[in-house]
Amino acid sequence: MIRIKHISTFYRTVQGTVKAVEDVSFDIYDNEIVGIAGESGCGKTSLMKTIYGNVESPMYIADGSVELEVEDMGAKKVITNEEIHRYWWEYISYIPQASMSVLNPVVRVKDQFLDSFLQRDVRAIGKQALLNRMAAYLQELELPPEVLNSYPHQLSGGMRQRVIVAMATFVHPKFVLADEPTTALDVVIQRGILTMLMKLQKQLQNTFIIVSHDMGVHYQITDRMVIMYAGKVVEIAPTAVIFERSLHPYTEMLINALPRLGDDTERTGISGRPPSLLNPPSGCRFADRCYLADERCRQVEPALIELEPGHFVACLKREPGEERSAHE
Ligand SMILES: Nc1ncnc2c1ncn2[C@@H]1O[C@H](COP(=O)(O)OP(=O)(O)O)[C@@H](O)[C@H]1O
Ligand SMILES: [Mg+2]
Repeated sequence: MIRIKHISTFYRTVQGTVKAVEDVSFDIYDNEIVGIAGESGCGKTSLMKTIYGNVESPMYIADGSVELEVEDMGAKKVITNEEIHRYWWEYISYIPQASMSVLNPVVRVKDQFLDSFLQRDVRAIGKQALLNRMAAYLQELELPPEVLNSYPHQLSGGMRQRVIVAMATFVHPKFVLADEPTTALDVVIQRGILTMLMKLQKQLQNTFIIVSHDMGVHYQITDRMVIMYAGKVVEIAPTAVIFERSLHPYTEMLINALPRLGDDTERTGISGRPPSLLNPPSGCRFADRCYLADERCRQVEPALIELEPGHFVACLKREPGEERSAHE
């Protein structure tokens, strides 16, 4: 499993410190698809980079740690985010946001693939054997093996994304992080990619961590969800619970903004925007947009509390003993 412990990830900028992720803690289990949701600018990508140990200036980890349990030479051990890079690909892989543009358009897919793996211990098996394995793996994933000889610019967006997923899962890592893996693809292609991810997870019995601002994506494939708002985790629960009886007003807002099939009434949509993370507001960061908020919410920062097993909420109005508003 992965334990995220009191992580704060900041950016140094000329305007000041951007507190992209602040004091975030939660666990990621083996054999699940976890979704990280929230509007753009809430810190999802920064959190993923932190988990992956991909920390580059101006980003830095201001506090906390990420621990990953690995098996090294048959022995179990716990490693921290500072050493995680040694376990990249084999234990943990990462599909970055806008990864379709990460592939170099003028280098054949097979050469980019070799670049990623030849350096590592896979080297032992040799180039041709590696390519044969990759071709077989692509076929397993219902991708024509000819894509290995193609240049990325010859492939459609959906096909490029499938190639990236294939690369990220080729050596069967225990954890696969995917940041907005279907954003910018049309709905039909999206569904294909999501199906591919679900199939892979079942087959590998590993863990996928999927970041998406699109609640529909989470509804389709995740088992459990982590909702982020303005650098904080505001709710965690199994996906079914999130959609049936979420407790945080922000989660409610995200769900209410989803279009519903056969429903022509206008959706409430999302009004307002997350606050700047240069100077996050005190108290609850969602207070300005929240129909439940009162003065206390603007002063007291809510803690993430486990209200029922596996269901965590950070909202003063949901704490035990609080009266429920007439709204409900
Ligand atoms: N390289 C950077 N330099 C300064 N600020 C950044 C940088 N990257 C992201 N941020 C800021 O960090 C916050 C969180 O961003 P990000 O993690 O990308 O959120 P999300 O993935 O949820 O959209 C935002 O306020 C964003 O402007
Ligand atoms: Mg992002």
